[in-house]
Amino acid sequence: MSSMSNSEFPPVRKAVIPVAGLGTRFLPATKATPKEMLPVVDKPAIQYVVEEAVAAGLTDVLMVTGRNKRPLEDHFDRVDGLEAALQAKGDQEKLQLIRESSELADIHFVRQGDPLGLGHAVLKGEQHVGEEPFAVLLGDDLIDERSPVLPDMIAGYDRTGGSVIALMEVPHESISMYGCAAVQETEVDGLVRVTDLVEKPDPADAPSNLAVIGRYVLSPEIFPLLHRTEPGRGDEIQLTDALKAQARGDGHGVYGVLFTGERYDTGDKFSYIKAVIQLASRRDDLGEELRTWLKEFVAGLED
Ligand code: G1P
Repeated sequence: MSSMSNSEFPPVRKAVIPVAGLGTRFLPATKATPKEMLPVVDKPAIQYVVEEAVAAGLTDVLMVTGRNKRPLEDHFDRVDGLEAALQAKGDQEKLQLIRESSELADIHFVRQGDPLGLGHAVLKGEQHVGEEPFAVLLGDDLIDERSPVLPDMIAGYDRTGGSVIALMEVPHESISMYGCAAVQETEVDGLVRVTDLVEKPDPADAPSNLAVIGRYVLSPEIFPLLHRTEPGRGDEIQLTDALKAQARGDGHGVYGVLFTGERYDTGDKFSYIKAVIQLASRRDDLGEELRTWLKEFVAGLED
């Protein structure tokens, strides 16, 4: 699929990133620091996500925030004192590093207010997004920049005008941690039609082993559906439930792009540690040293 098209639908230009979560799985680190600011190697997790949106051409970014999220706003802003100090030292390299995040995108913030679920967070973007398609990126999922999925999802929207979700095959017993989709082939390679969705099903009831990962391209049809979505799993307003209504309704429907690239999960401690090691071991500046050390370390464990 190509991401350029002469689509009859309006272009996808905006990204919504829900960041209001409390991050209780990382306490005490997240007592006074948002979990999105935890470093993955040397960049806060949220910066990878914003960079991914920008790389897909989405330079208008709305963050749906909550209390204690000020550091996020500061991270994407200029810091005069620090810049002046680095300038005085002539440290162009670090100056460039700290300016990158403030020059990346046009970032807006809105507060979620009550934490009523992902569907509710997305609804908070309605006014900013308007009658346009938009992407939603969840901060716990990092997608390797060498295997991006958003461009194919945007191409899927351009072709169909429907919402497009990213799907990944997971082991059967893990499906209860994700939204799960039933799908049908389409005539387009790599694009499936979603016929049903369930949020975090018991493996015994799951219609497939296709998990929804934290990337969505949503058509504006989703907003009226979200308004009508009652609290579901966990007593929260689930985006999955609104998408299910869209998949079964008579609008433009819901499609899925099969993701087979590299994804890092920073949502809990164990997967966060794995993400840091995987990303660091692939870096030009750290990788070789880390890989050598890891082999020695693992050999030591085996002894
Ligand atoms: C959310 C969605 C779920 C999706 C997951 C992807 O769940 O509700 O459908 O599979 O993100 O990471 P959460 O992990 O926020 O509970």
